[in-house]
Amino acid sequence: MNMQWLFYSDTNARADLLEESLERRDYKLKRVTYLERLFDHLKKDPNAVLIIKANKIYNVYQLCEELSVKYPHIHIVLMIPDNMENAKKAMQAGASNTLRTSSDKDEIREMILHAEKYVQHRMQREDVTDLPLIALDQRVMAVSSTKGGSGRSTLAVNLAVSFAAQGQRTAVLDGDIQFGDAAMYLNVKPKKTIYEWIKEGDNRKELDIDQFMTKHESGVSVFAAPSRPEFFEMITADDIQLAVEELKKVYQVIVVDNSASISEVHLQVLKEADDILLLTNGELPAVRSSRLYLDTLESLNLHSKVRLIHNRRKKKDGIDPKKMEELIGAGIFASITDQETVVGASIQEGIPYVISQPKKQVSKDVKALAGKLLSGSSEKPAKKKSKKLIAEAQ
Ligand SMILES: Nc1ncnc2c1ncn2[C@@H]1O[C@H](COP(=O)(O)OP(=O)(O)OP(=O)(O)O)[C@@H](O)[C@H]1O
Ligand SMILES: [Mg+2]
Repeated sequence: MNMQWLFYSDTNARADLLEESLERRDYKLKRVTYLERLFDHLKKDPNAVLIIKANKIYNVYQLCEELSVKYPHIHIVLMIPDNMENAKKAMQAGASNTLRTSSDKDEIREMILHAEKYVQHRMQREDVTDLPLIALDQRVMAVSSTKGGSGRSTLAVNLAVSFAAQGQRTAVLDGDIQFGDAAMYLNVKPKKTIYEWIKEGDNRKELDIDQFMTKHESGVSVFAAPSRPEFFEMITADDIQLAVEELKKVYQVIVVDNSASISEVHLQVLKEADDILLLTNGELPAVRSSRLYLDTLESLNLHSKVRLIHNRRKKKDGIDPKKMEELIGAGIFASITDQETVVGASIQEGIPYVISQPKKQVSKDVKALAGKLLSGSSEKPAKKKSKKLIAEAQ
């Protein structure tokens, strides 16, 4: 099996017996003494097994904890002095296994077999192994609007597919928990949804959330809305918070198709989000309510996350973008062309337009938006302008 075995110690500690045991199974032990080098190896190789030897210079439990959070897929074996207290500390620090410093050949062999089993299991999940391991860089993006039919779902799925195409492990969380249709827009039929996950109660914390998600061929996974609208009543803000927490353990980008209302659940989504993509078209009622929405988010101290997206931008007869910015009191982060035939056909077929019609302007706009969001552009909403402007425009 293709596995890399790393041995980190910041002293020149030897590991002869370990090296011999690995050689017997055709593995080579790579010694690393500098942390920067170790990080490079761990970033590059998701199938690495890391053995850390306790030493005096660095607090090894703290190191183990940091590594297990930063690289959750790595199998970490902590070498510890012979007593149970240390084993307990190692496990609390996130080690996958321990090895006593005085371990004999049999114990080492057992540790190797255990690590092999773990890596084999990971490799079977074909979509995990070839991805960069950036566990601390997750982004939660809530696609919101004040009006129904603003284009949230279509933007959410097309953005998600664009992130996946850029190598990001991406999930769509259907936050429209009563009438969500994100799965339909991707033409996938969920066997399980957020409802089945919630029914697991406290048990769900031990479960792999991926089991409840539906895979799309683009690589995007959908955490679908319940199959029946009445089930939405059992979903609470705490559930959403936990769902986002769990998704962050597996995914790098989580796109939430949020509902137009500001209920407790949807407010929780906004709190969890790193970016709130506020979609609006150029119609005055939508512009007006977007302004009110921004005011509300300001009072909740959430407004700095808002990225205003002008959807359905028209070449002719459209609202002047400058005017729109003035009325809403925020700068436009990105615009998406109005292309009814392309978007309409994509929804009908259940194939995101960035896949079926990649050359069309609407697809280019969404891909550019995905790139801009990932590059971490930190444009802030423009300074609020007088509310008088809204009154004048009416
Ligand atoms: N850029 C666009 N160009 C043309 N039509 C668009 C565009 N974006 C969205 N639409 C159209 O708007 C309609 C609503 O889109 P979508 O279902 O994504 O909105 P929504 O905000 O999720 O709606 P709902 O409130 O029903 O959940 C669709 O018919 C879609 O074709
Ligand atoms: Mg929708």
